[in-house]
Amino acid sequence: MKELMDKNTSCTFDFFDPEFQQDTHPTYARLLEQCPFSKGKGEHDFYAVSRYKDIVSICKATDMWSSKFGPGLRYYSPDEPRALVNVDPPEHDVEVQIVRRAFSGAYIKSLEDGIRDYSRELLADLPDSGEIDIHRAYSIPIPLYVICKLLGIDYADAKAHGFDDWVINNAISTVYDPADEEKAAIAADAQSEMIAYFTPKLKEWSDRIAAGDAAPDENLITRLVTAEHEGVKLSTNKILGFCGFLLVAGSATTTTAITNLVYRLFRHPEQRAKLVAEPALIAQAVEEGLRYDAPVHGLFRTNNRPTKLGSYDLEENTKVALLWASGNLDPEFIDEPELFDISRELKSTRRNLTFGYGIHTCLGASLARMEIAIAIAELLAKMPNYELVGEPKPSTPDVMSGFESLMIKW
Ligand code: HEM
Repeated sequence: MKELMDKNTSCTFDFFDPEFQQDTHPTYARLLEQCPFSKGKGEHDFYAVSRYKDIVSICKATDMWSSKFGPGLRYYSPDEPRALVNVDPPEHDVEVQIVRRAFSGAYIKSLEDGIRDYSRELLADLPDSGEIDIHRAYSIPIPLYVICKLLGIDYADAKAHGFDDWVINNAISTVYDPADEEKAAIAADAQSEMIAYFTPKLKEWSDRIAAGDAAPDENLITRLVTAEHEGVKLSTNKILGFCGFLLVAGSATTTTAITNLVYRLFRHPEQRAKLVAEPALIAQAVEEGLRYDAPVHGLFRTNNRPTKLGSYDLEENTKVALLWASGNLDPEFIDEPELFDISRELKSTRRNLTFGYGIHTCLGASLARMEIAIAIAELLAKMPNYELVGEPKPSTPDVMSGFESLMIKW
């Protein structure tokens, strides 16, 4: 790939700036207008890419731009459990083959009724009017229920082991900010708890398969413990890497997306009214929500060789953030990017970068879209006129873009 040499002024960008987290769009507008490439601020030594076309070309150039040090700002060490999102081809090709089957259209569709029933169950417990933190009561449990189903784990058992807390604290994903020692410690604890929880589950499912009590394609864990490539099985460390990653990748992100759309529809009452009047717009509303408020600001790559990014000279293995959320607001990608309009055609919004781009594109995208669509449709059916109570608290500054809680009344 040729070096990216677009014009650039000297710009800085800070994921961890609370002002940015409060309202990301003005920062993205500035970056898109003036700074295709910017430099991380303060102790955070990274660069960031803001425009749609540059993000896409970096994602395509996998020989140059690697995921081997992980998708966050922190550099993964070689002995940590890793899977998919922190491996490069050809290892990545094999892993995708193994996991992709678990995300087949037919399988995802088979989860639909269960997700709808579960969403209704959560709402049925609520009185006819009241006040609630919808983030905790609704957006968190739905994706956790789904990921447990996918992995073949009992949700009640998972809850008893603190799964919900891992998500509420965003515990594992906060590993991404290496400068925050307190959070890194919480994340490390969550990682150990996760390993301690999953290790016996792997053995349990292997034993059940050996005893003829479970099928190899019963769930994601059985697929992983039986998967072979060229006669070699996946190591336990690798399988734990998959489980830990899926838990975070599949839950915190979708949770954030649901809450973000609840918030956004409140802020745009005419759009909400349109959706209530015309429920068939739900897929378009979900896509517009994902484009407008991407749950993940951006994720990182490192360069395999020294290169240039605009006017910046990058040493080998420099962390570079691909700002999906910014690419989604690029006027070269979409007309009137600041307009939140749930009737935009899917063929234009679907190309958003919220699920990444290229070989690492999210494998759970269809599942996530379905979960968000069901969650929002059911919520609007129960309380079409919900209102926000007070100002919601943004989640702590991080690569995730959402809220810690969202109080609503109906
Ligand atoms: C709204 C919800 C979601 C968002 C915003 C999201 C976002 C992303 C992004 C941006 C990537 C690309 C990572 C990179 O390029 O480094 C990714 C990868 C991935 N996501 Fe998601 N995701 C969501 C939901 C899910 C769900 C529900 C699952 C599974 C249950 C899932 C599984 C994965 C997997 C397995 C990958 C790795 C693909 C690879 O590296 O080949 N995601 N996701």
